[in-house]
Formats: sequence, C-alpha cells, structure tokens
Amino acid sequence: MKKKPEELRSHRWYGVKDLRSFGHRSRTAQMGYHRSDYAGKPVIAIINTWSDINPCHSHFKQRVEEVKRGIWQAGGFPVEMPAISLSEPFQKPTTMLYRNLLAMETEELLRSYPADGCVLMGGCDKTTPALVMGALSMNLPTLFMPAGPMLRGDYKGGFLGSGSDTWKYWAELRAGNITEQDWQEVEDGIARSPGHCMTMGTASTMTSAVEVLGLTLSGAASIPAPDSRHAQMATLTGKRIVEMVWDDVKPLDFLTPTSFDNAVTAVLALGGSTNSIVHLIAMAKRAGFNLTIDRFDELARRTPVIANLRPSGKFLMEDFFYAGGLRGLLTQLGSLLDLTQRTCESRTLGDSLVGAKVYNDDVIRPLNNPLVSKDGLAVLRGNLAPDGAIIKPAAMEPHLRKHTGKAVVFKDYNDMAARIDLPELEVDANSVIVLQSAGPQGAPGMPEWGQLPIPQKLLKQGVRDMVRVSDARMSGTSYGACVLHVAPESHVGGPLALVQDGDEICLDIEARRIDLLISDTEMARRRAAWKAPEPKFKRGYGTLYLKHIQQADKGCDFDFLEPEPVAPNSGEPEIH
Ligand code: FES
Repeated sequence: MKKKPEELRSHRWYGVKDLRSFGHRSRTAQMGYHRSDYAGKPVIAIINTWSDINPCHSHFKQRVEEVKRGIWQAGGFPVEMPAISLSEPFQKPTTMLYRNLLAMETEELLRSYPADGCVLMGGCDKTTPALVMGALSMNLPTLFMPAGPMLRGDYKGGFLGSGSDTWKYWAELRAGNITEQDWQEVEDGIARSPGHCMTMGTASTMTSAVEVLGLTLSGAASIPAPDSRHAQMATLTGKRIVEMVWDDVKPLDFLTPTSFDNAVTAVLALGGSTNSIVHLIAMAKRAGFNLTIDRFDELARRTPVIANLRPSGKFLMEDFFYAGGLRGLLTQLGSLLDLTQRTCESRTLGDSLVGAKVYNDDVIRPLNNPLVSKDGLAVLRGNLAPDGAIIKPAAMEPHLRKHTGKAVVFKDYNDMAARIDLPELEVDANSVIVLQSAGPQGAPGMPEWGQLPIPQKLLKQGVRDMVRVSDARMSGTSYGACVLHVAPESHVGGPLALVQDGDEICLDIEARRIDLLISDTEMARRRAAWKAPEPKFKRGYGTLYLKHIQQADKGCDFDFLEPEPVAPNSGEPEIH
C-alpha cells in the first residue's frame, strides 16, 4: 500500500495549515524553492559526511548532486544535511572516539527535521557504522550510499594497498632495506584517487556488510569511487529512496538476526577487518538484536576466506570489482548464506544476486579452493581476557598460532613509543609484546594501535611477526599475530592491567585461549594492589563518552543509546 502525501512525516512541517507551517514554507521559499518543488513530495535527508579534511569522501560534493538528481527525477525533495566527517587519517586520538557522536547526530538530524527518508553518504571507516546506527534508531526508510574504494596504489610498476603496504614499507625503511627516496615514492603513489582504503580494511568490510544487510543497492559497495558506474549508483540510490518512502520500506521491516548472520559470514569470507566485530554488534543492538562475539567465532569455524584481498591475500578492491565484486562473492557462498532475507529493494538477497558471476577465480576463490579454510577471525578467552579478545588468524604467521613467550610490557602508547626501539630493550622473537591503557576508556577511544611495532633490532634480524596483546583495535589493513579488544580493558582493572615484564603468556588459537601463566593467588594479590587511574577527560563530550561507553565485547555503544529504537511517528516530541 502506497503512502498518501498527507501520511508523510514531512506533512506535519509543510502540509498543515497553521502558523508554524507558514514559517517552514516561507523559509523554504527564501531558499529559492517554489511550493510546487516540495508540496506533497517525500523530503529526503541526505546525510553527507563530506569535509575538506576527509580524502576518502572528496568526491562527495559531486556525488551528492547525483543523489539529488535521482531524488528530483523520482519526485522527491532532496535536503542535504552535513554531518561530522570522521576522517580516519586525521582525527585524533581516533575516529572511534567520535563514532557514537556521529550516530547521535544522524539520529537527531533525522528526528528534528522533516525527513521522510534518508540517504547516508559515508565509507571512511567509522562513518559507515555511525550513520547506520543512528538511522536504525530512527528507522525511517534508509539507503546507504557507499563512498567506494579508491584505485590501486602505484609504485615502481607494482600495486600498493592502503595501510598494508604502509606498514610493510615502514618496517623495511626501519630495517634499512629501502631508502628515504623509495619511501617518498610510496607516499606519492599509495593514495591517488578519491575513495576509501582499497584493501579489505574496515571501510571495505563495513560497506560490504551494510550491502549484505540490504541497506544499499545491490552491488553498490564494490564500485571504485572514480568509476562512472559509481556516479550512476548514486543517482539510482536517489531514485530508489523515494520509492521506499512511498512504499514505507524501513530497515527494521527487513533486518533480522539472520541478516546479521549473513553480514558476519560475508565479512569472514572477505577476510574482513576485526573492527567489524565492534561495529556489527553495535549496529545489531540498535536494531534490537543481541549479536555476540561468540557468534562471530561460531560462524568463523565454518566460513572459509575466499576473497584473495590484502591484508590477508594478494589483490585490491579494484581487482575485486572487476572479478565480480561482492555480488560474485555472495554467489560463491551459496548455502552458507540465507538468501531468503529481504533487502531495501523489496526483494530477497537471492533475487538480488540473479546474474551475478565470478570472472576471476583467483581473486574470488571457489569454496573448494579457499585462501584459508576457516578462522578468518577468532574469539579468544582465558584469564587474560575473561570477556573475550579477538585475533585474525588469516593475517598472521602460522607458526605463532600456538605460542608461549615472556611479556614485554608497555604501560601506555607513549611508553611504547619511547622504548620499543631502544637497543637495551630485553626482547627477542619469542617475546610477547603487551600494551596497556589502549582500550575504550584507557586511550581513550580504543585507537588502532593494536598492530604493535616490532622492535627495530628484531626487524633487522628479519623478524616480521610476533605475538602482541592489547586492549586496542587494529586497522583493518593491518596484519600480524595481534591479540586485540582484550576485555575488560586494563584501564578499568581488567587482567591486562596486571601483566608484568617477564610473565609468561600463552596464545592457543585452536583452543581459543589467551592466558597469563601466573597463579590465581598471584593474580588476586596484584588485583588488590591495583589502583584505578584518573579519568582521561574532565569536561565536554569526553566526560559523556567516559560515563557511558561500553566495553569492546558489547560494541562500544553508549549505554543510553540502546536498545529501544524510536519509531518516527510514535514517542517523538511534537513539533512546535
Ligand atoms: Fe578513510 Fe581508510 S582512511 S577508509
């Protein structure tokens, strides 16, 4: 049943005859619109996370015009609303500190203005989960328009991958294997077009997950940002959102726990970012579903990694697109997905994949020739992480899957930066490097510090991977035997705070364990002596953050933002 114009949410602003609606109409006229431009039409809020300091969204000034073109053509009224741009390379200490701020801003923009539906423009890491979290809480008809990956990096006749090759060549520079001139050429060639990171980092992982959830047009997430098909997708997104408003297609009408299982399965098959765990848990909770870290582990045990993409594999997102993209990969997964789940296109996921093919089965492998047969991600527990920790076995050296070594402990990031390369540091290839105070409260903001650097003297000996443990996250473009997201974090008194230099730590991926090999009595003695550190913020947004942020295993959402979604036409304050 199609909605009638007077049933639109925006009718309360524009359609009624009262003093307030006079103000809305006269002020819209002030912006140069005639009433025939908007009367009786769906108002589509375009939440645009463009900014001058977000290179991943530098094409959004153009793309937003293409989204608007689609909305106008379909008979809607587009209203662009800028929102905080979480720019991964520039924002300190970490964009994660501000993910929930963008989620709140998205929700409140949609709530407080006359939006009948929305297009979310994001892609750079945290922008995707933040926009979706906010929009799910409002539950208006919603379409996500992914920024798309940038083109492959170019260097000396080969390809460069965002992040992955930065870490790789930085290690080679520190080891003395490349020159400053080489390093500058990497800098010049690694990011050479608009778009988000083009490895299977957090950005590609999350936009792909959102597509599998059915919140984008089918095929949208894999299109490279500069490709003309990306511009076409933007216009089609604008057209479709208008239809969705008339048909009243809202996310909570089609999202289910099973669609989140599908998203997790796709993330695992992609060899996706560990960050997706925190984000998908938070997004699922906004939709009212209790996705747990253990569910990731269960699905990881049956899901092979079939995307041969860096950092786990060899290729980049541009290759992935030419090989068939996410649609191709989903067809390969077949029975590992529930294809009856519905999407924003008012059809099933299976129907949306009709005609999808894989054109290069080295980039997108068949199930019988995977890159890694299982365990793209693994959830660890043990006395060092009672509430869980994460590792990405697909992107580490296999000989470290079962490893015991002596801890080399850094009490915070500054301590690590100051001492990690000292020649006198007592460390060898078997050591386990531990970083404390890098979690949601401790850092604060749980930055992507989890790929702890390998000490320079070991790099020079040829060591390229070691077991590393922290309560931080890790960039999705990173790799190595890095135990991440240790919960509870050290700043709130988790066992990670109690580790001392020389303690033995045992990692066992098969057993899904991470243990500190000290007695319970010694653990209790250290706990009794532990003193809570001072909070990191005394005023402003930071105090709100510290008061309400939840631990990594809970998705790091603010406690007061979950779990009950607010329906747009119930429970909202009246407009005046
Ligand atoms: Fe924006 Fe990597 S810096 S996605």
